Amino acid sequence: METQTLLRIDFNNMMAEAIGEHGITEEELASYLPMAKTAARAMVEKRPSMKWRELPHNQAEVVKQLNECAEYVRGNFDDFVVLGIGGSALGPIAVQQALNHLHYNDLPKEKRNGSRLFVEDNVDPERMNALLDVIDLERAAFNVITKSGSTSETMAQLLIVFDLLKERLGGDYASRIIATTDEHKGNLIKIAGEYNLKTFHVPDGVGGRFSELCPVGLLAAAVCGIDISALLKGAARMDEVCSEPDVYRNGAYMAALLQYISMKRGKNISVMMPYADSLKYMSDWYAQLWAESLGKRFDLSGKDVFVGQTPVKALGVTDQHSQVQLYVEGPFDKVVTFLGVDEYRSTYAIPRGFEHIPDVSFLGGHTLNELIKAEQEATEYALMRAGRPSFSITLPKVTPETIGALLYFFEVMTAFAGELLSINAFDQPGVEGGKQATYALLGKPGFDEKREELKNAPAKNPRYII
Ligand code: PA5
Repeated sequence: METQTLLRIDFNNMMAEAIGEHGITEEELASYLPMAKTAARAMVEKRPSMKWRELPHNQAEVVKQLNECAEYVRGNFDDFVVLGIGGSALGPIAVQQALNHLHYNDLPKEKRNGSRLFVEDNVDPERMNALLDVIDLERAAFNVITKSGSTSETMAQLLIVFDLLKERLGGDYASRIIATTDEHKGNLIKIAGEYNLKTFHVPDGVGGRFSELCPVGLLAAAVCGIDISALLKGAARMDEVCSEPDVYRNGAYMAALLQYISMKRGKNISVMMPYADSLKYMSDWYAQLWAESLGKRFDLSGKDVFVGQTPVKALGVTDQHSQVQLYVEGPFDKVVTFLGVDEYRSTYAIPRGFEHIPDVSFLGGHTLNELIKAEQEATEYALMRAGRPSFSITLPKVTPETIGALLYFFEVMTAFAGELLSINAFDQPGVEGGKQATYALLGKPGFDEKREELKNAPAKNPRYII
């Protein structure tokens, strides 16, 4: 299936014709087409509420401001540190890995397109200290990102950074901090106003995991010299493809439908396996998108459904030597998505040598490009022969346009899967539960009742602690 030169989807290995009893027959697929049609209609009707769908089209002015800000950061600071978590961190990490040098931060300054980038998406104290060991606070700018403006992890990081900068720089310290948050709601917008922080907004109706293509992801990308207009252009082109109601012409819809049918058949694990280091963290970003959007207890009518597919991150070829054994011979509970590229951005020739050992010398004269592609083909083949469903998404090349397209593709695929499952793909009550418990444990005002509830949790049985 062609998604017009941006991505190519091949779902042969999902079909019974290729993999036998664990595959989907043409008739079975056809029986789901009316349902897919209804879901496609719902996608059109609900589009006005899915504000993330407009991001490729409505940000010309924001892009200008982001590029100006990025130029200022690049010109004045060696390091750019993102403070954020979940949807406020995984996109920036994935895009940076995809589009910049694989050892970007280690390159000498003159070989980099911008400041070094650190995305701090945890509150491990060792990590905070480690960060402070490698950045020069006096030459660093910080981007605190939180849509809700209240996430404990991010606010704790902000408190630390405020304190450090104040102590080190005095006076103008707040000018080092850029806030990205909701325009009206939350604590960060209040702090931003009070301290006159440079601020970008997460548009209304754009949830964390759907926010990479707004200032959440675009500022860090621009600071690192990535062409954010091209990212958005690729997403806009993908929007055209993804607006096609016919699943046979809309790869995102088809991929969602195949996953949906697979879930119905007990394939509750979705493995994302890129064969490119540049796409390695796309799996992390996808894992959040897929898990948090589709892992739901209730359907839209309030009925218990307990649905979702557990995402697993793998990397080709690395994980051929750790996980593929399980994929080929373990339980029939997975769908593997291969992410490949037609043309890698560099070529590396394998020199000839060891001619007296033919088992090694056969590699000489090939390229690493041929080797990695052969390994992807071989793994797809092995899974097919073992009757395991998989499909592949291929980028002609990793560029800002194809990455913008890929992000948008996965977002539409997820939203469409939500429609098929008849759940709300855009909330996350399960995450909220954990956030509330943390607030209570750390004494946030207004959480006394929750604190009581936690105190009264059943005591641990020492018999089960060794
Ligand atoms: O997708 C989501 O909504 C979440 O994963 C959030 O991105 C995450 O919890 C961080 O929230 P916030 O940006 O409000 O700090």
